Amino acid sequence: MPAPSALMNVMTDAARKGARVLARDFGELENLQVSVKGVGDFVTASDIKVEEILRDELMRARPAYGWLGEETGEVEGKDPTRRWIVDPIDGTTNFMHGMPHFAISIALEHKNELVAGLIYDIAKDEIFTAEKGGGAWLNDRRRLRVSSRRDLIESVFATGVPFGSKSTLPTMLQELARLMPASAGVRRFGSAALDLAWVAAGRFDGFWEREIMPWDMAAGIVIAREAGALVEDLDGGTDMLARGEVIAAPAELLGKLKKALAG
Ligand code: IPD
Ligand code: CA
Repeated sequence: MPAPSALMNVMTDAARKGARVLARDFGELENLQVSVKGVGDFVTASDIKVEEILRDELMRARPAYGWLGEETGEVEGKDPTRRWIVDPIDGTTNFMHGMPHFAISIALEHKNELVAGLIYDIAKDEIFTAEKGGGAWLNDRRRLRVSSRRDLIESVFATGVPFGSKSTLPTMLQELARLMPASAGVRRFGSAALDLAWVAAGRFDGFWEREIMPWDMAAGIVIAREAGALVEDLDGGTDMLARGEVIAAPAELLGKLKKALAG
């Protein structure tokens, strides 16, 4: 692969620093402090600690950029055209339950366009990265490509099933009732960032979810696109972050997936 850019080195160094703390905390879950943000929505001391580390590192390297983080919110930068979009732990519920499927997610937006993404799956030591126009990569070595499956019945999809007070459960249940018999299966692994990274890696054939936040999907959108996926909001536009919804699949499968979901 081409040598990582200065920007990607900044993102990788920050993620590795945060990952050291997360790996240690994951090994000592009995000591973890947890607070509740909403029904079924938790924040751990690790989320807060790791967001602080990421913010220190990323803002030290690029002090003029703006910031949007799950735990610390939005700060406008001196450069209003660029901002980091960061999730210190995507998959907090998995993390708290000792399930090794969670990730640090870092994206960079420039002029309202997502231009770089990094997702670090700490338990499996997999780092997914992409910069616009440069392809998507796993651990700097393997170029990622979306799956080549073309038939729904051979394809495995990922989604996020609404939890707590989310309002889209009835829609989701209808969609599941339509897609499950028409496909090889639907998974709910609990990290939207990794769901998108796994679409990029061709492990999932597609992914969709509603009521998710910009930091859940920003890095994954760049990575999935650079691996060849089409990524849209559920109306076929590109307002995923503003609308809080996303669907991603190889071009040849996206239409079939949408049709199956709509019934
Ligand atoms: C959650 C995960 C999950 C998705 C939720 C998100 P968090 O993020 O991405 O897969 O279904 O909508 O909130 O809370 O673990 O950062
Ligand atoms: Ca998240």
